[in-house]
Amino acid sequence: MEGNLDPEKCAMSIEAPARRPSTAQLKGRAAIATLLLLLYWYRGFFVAKPPSSPIDWQPCFEDPSFLCGYLEVPTDYGNPSAGTSTLALSKYSATCPESERLGIIITNFGGPGVPGRQASFLSAARIQNFTGNRHDIISFDQRGLGRSTPKVNCFGSTLKYQMFKTNTVFETTFSVPKDPFSAAGRAVLIEQQKEALALEETQGAMCAETIGAEALGFMSTTTTIYDMEEISRLLEGEDALINFWGGSYGTIVGAYLGNMLPHKAGKILIDGVVLGDMWSNEHYESQALLRLLLTDSEKTYQLYLSECFKAGPEHCALSAAGDESPKHIEKRIDDFVDKLQLQPMRVTNYSRPGYLTSGGVRSTFFNTLQMPEMWKIYSQMLASAINDSDAASLMRMIAPRYRDPSPAPEHDGYVETGQGELLRLAISCGDARQYVDGDTWPTAEGIVDDILVTLESFPRFGATVHLMEQHGGCQFWPGTGVGPTRFTGPFNKTLATPTLIVSNTHDPITPYAAGKIVLETMGDSARLLLQGAAGHSYLTPTTACATKVIQSYFADGVIPEDRETWCEREVDNYFIGVDESSTNPSLLAQSLGMDYHSF
Ligand SMILES: *[C@@H]1O[C@H](CO)[C@@H](O)[C@H](O)[C@H]1NC(C)=O
Ligand SMILES: *[C@@H]1O[C@H](CO)[C@@H](O)[C@H](O)[C@H]1NC(C)=O
Ligand SMILES: *[C@@H]1O[C@H](CO)[C@@H](O)[C@H](O)[C@H]1NC(C)=O
Ligand SMILES: *[C@@H]1O[C@H](CO)[C@@H](O)[C@H](O)[C@H]1NC(C)=O
Repeated sequence: MEGNLDPEKCAMSIEAPARRPSTAQLKGRAAIATLLLLLYWYRGFFVAKPPSSPIDWQPCFEDPSFLCGYLEVPTDYGNPSAGTSTLALSKYSATCPESERLGIIITNFGGPGVPGRQASFLSAARIQNFTGNRHDIISFDQRGLGRSTPKVNCFGSTLKYQMFKTNTVFETTFSVPKDPFSAAGRAVLIEQQKEALALEETQGAMCAETIGAEALGFMSTTTTIYDMEEISRLLEGEDALINFWGGSYGTIVGAYLGNMLPHKAGKILIDGVVLGDMWSNEHYESQALLRLLLTDSEKTYQLYLSECFKAGPEHCALSAAGDESPKHIEKRIDDFVDKLQLQPMRVTNYSRPGYLTSGGVRSTFFNTLQMPEMWKIYSQMLASAINDSDAASLMRMIAPRYRDPSPAPEHDGYVETGQGELLRLAISCGDARQYVDGDTWPTAEGIVDDILVTLESFPRFGATVHLMEQHGGCQFWPGTGVGPTRFTGPFNKTLATPTLIVSNTHDPITPYAAGKIVLETMGDSARLLLQGAAGHSYLTPTTACATKVIQSYFADGVIPEDRETWCEREVDNYFIGVDESSTNPSLLAQSLGMDYHSF
């Protein structure tokens, strides 16, 4: 397809945010449309009332430059008598003139468990911009999430679920003894894993009682793909190709979309790759997927230390005047973690007084590595804990403030349930290989032995990520075995449009090795865009070089000729190169680690 994009015109419409017509204008248009309808009823019908409006779009109260609405979908696409579920959607309309509009791009912001509608207010404008402004960006809450129904609210309120997790291994993550491979060290890990299994069993039972297996069984990624097909069918027509942008877990959605509906694969961008094949075909407890995902974790940590050292104390509070190499910084941090392992530190002046553990430092550090815009801020937070025994700001990253159990319903009466981790399980247990009769369930001892293998390669974060992002425990999950036949591949279908894979060289949780595997598997149906950048998926700024490739892919339909495109890193030092005034740590942290954990 030849590009007819007029960048200047489109850029101008970006500059002018007041692009949504007023109600009066809309009423005027409706009147004109009625006239047209009388004159040319057939043509007028489609101009005035596209078949694509089963959704009553209204300006969103959070941000009126978006439109929000609901769509009723069959709960079970294979059984119309099973009733309906409701999806909450948002739309950020194309900013290019209508004549240049190219349909929609459906998004997924990962987790699983990040509500798409809410995340779109932070990210859709950026996606709109780097995809060339020619598509409506459509985001939606997957079933179970946010404003969609049914809702995963197993505990009744945010506060009740927070209380369930507080100071447990779910919140602190593993505290790893100095020698985990010794008998005593292993025993310490087993103790914590037993606690995790009990928590998993309890929350599974809670969900069975309050939500029920029937509802929980229809929240898998397979169901999400059917929902996306329905959205595309209703908005763009029966045969429209489905365009998609997905980050992190969203790359699983992208892989399922392409391989479940290869004939409908439109422009699909997957950024920060998790392997669909391992996701659906390996038991999570084997840690095989996790080990692959951690490939670049230590390398990214070393980059953090080396850039901290180069930036010096002025920009990185963890470095000190007399440091001769990054090793000095590394040692200070290691010593602090070891000290906490022996004796956790008190935290008094946070809304939730408590204590900081070694696991707390590891998990907050790991989250930070995914977001280079947080690198400098985090160095101050950790330095305060190390130098001044003040861990209040670190606590903010670990434990969200307790919230009132029944906040005043705002606008549409929606009350956040704060149980993103449970929704994560509804999706990942719906997708995962199941334990069947005759399988032995994993024991704490067995799981820890697998963790120890992971720790051999990744001593710093190997045991931490396992609990930072609740996965596994599907043997306790009530939805298991209910719902549509889960998709298990193959993941090498020939797609109507090749997929664009984006990976970063220093992503601690989705390494470019995973991007390469998808590239190999998909053959000519994929291209890889590799950035020499630090950070995870959309939590890191996209290089201008990559933006160019992405823009011509979406706006002009240009598939890169080369199988791999390399984009050089553009930030000199992440402690200095980031414009702090544009950094909003609470927004960044909200999109990871604080309110909901996401890949
Ligand atoms: C859109 O992208 C261009 C570069 O492609 C950038 O200069 C501009 O600031 C971006 N606008 C917004 C609103 O993000
Ligand atoms: C922390 O202590 C080191 C030396 O012990 C010092 O160089 C550094 O400036 C201190 N950082 C902060 C943020 O106080
Ligand atoms: C917490 O208390 C310490 C002293 O123990 C103080 O230096 C620090 O400023 C306090 N932090 C916050 C966020 O209030
Ligand atoms: C696709 O993958 C399956 C196994 O997942 C394999 O048997 C088959 O040969 C592959 N097809 C192609 C064209 O590579």
